[in-house]
Amino acid sequence: MRINVITIFPEYLEGPLGLSIPGRAREAGLVNYRLIDLREYATDRHRTTDDEPFGGGGGMVMKPEPFDAALGALEGPGRVVSLSPRGCPFDHRTAVRFALESDLTLLCGRYKGIDERVTEKWVDEEVSIGDYVLSGGEPAALVVIDAVVRLLPGALGDHDSAASDSFYEGLLSAPSYTRPAEHDGRSAPGVLRSGDHSRIEAWRAWRADRATRHRRPDLLDLDAAD
Ligand code: ADE
Repeated sequence: MRINVITIFPEYLEGPLGLSIPGRAREAGLVNYRLIDLREYATDRHRTTDDEPFGGGGGMVMKPEPFDAALGALEGPGRVVSLSPRGCPFDHRTAVRFALESDLTLLCGRYKGIDERVTEKWVDEEVSIGDYVLSGGEPAALVVIDAVVRLLPGALGDHDSAASDSFYEGLLSAPSYTRPAEHDGRSAPGVLRSGDHSRIEAWRAWRADRATRHRRPDLLDLDAAD
């Protein structure tokens, strides 16, 4: 898979993409990241990438020409996704969909967002990572990349681990415990140490259901509507 990121801060992503699962997936040849510096596609002396919004109201809008040039220079941008608080919520299903693409191009906006004409011409979908406003799309791009890359076959080296993650089956996951069995006066649940896999599975299903009911009842409603 190839993931392109168009940003005015390529160095924001460089470090995190070299670490942990995103870094190991790149080393294993499962994914290739291309960080594209939007400023290189600005044509004026100051390499301007933003301007005041038409209609006023403060903030700055990312200019269309540098994005047009950067996207035009990509041979096959694949699915083009813009990170924006105005986007559709990013979730596990979206991550699975993106992981099935061979090429993904992420656009990082700043300030008041990207000129809408770029979105109309190039963008397949806008996604938001949550109902809050970040200073720019860069941290959101990292979130999307991490969630997608860990789904690539071979990235985790342990499919069972992904299969017990939250959201894999539409629920939050059960809580986890490790050694020591007793810590600070609290015991890890005996059932998890029983070696009885059907009891362990039942316990996990019960705790996943309980956590989801308490914390995210919306996930259960969504399933019912499917
Ligand atoms: N850019 C600014 N805020 C964002 C958010 N919540 N999700 C995605 N991109 C963003």
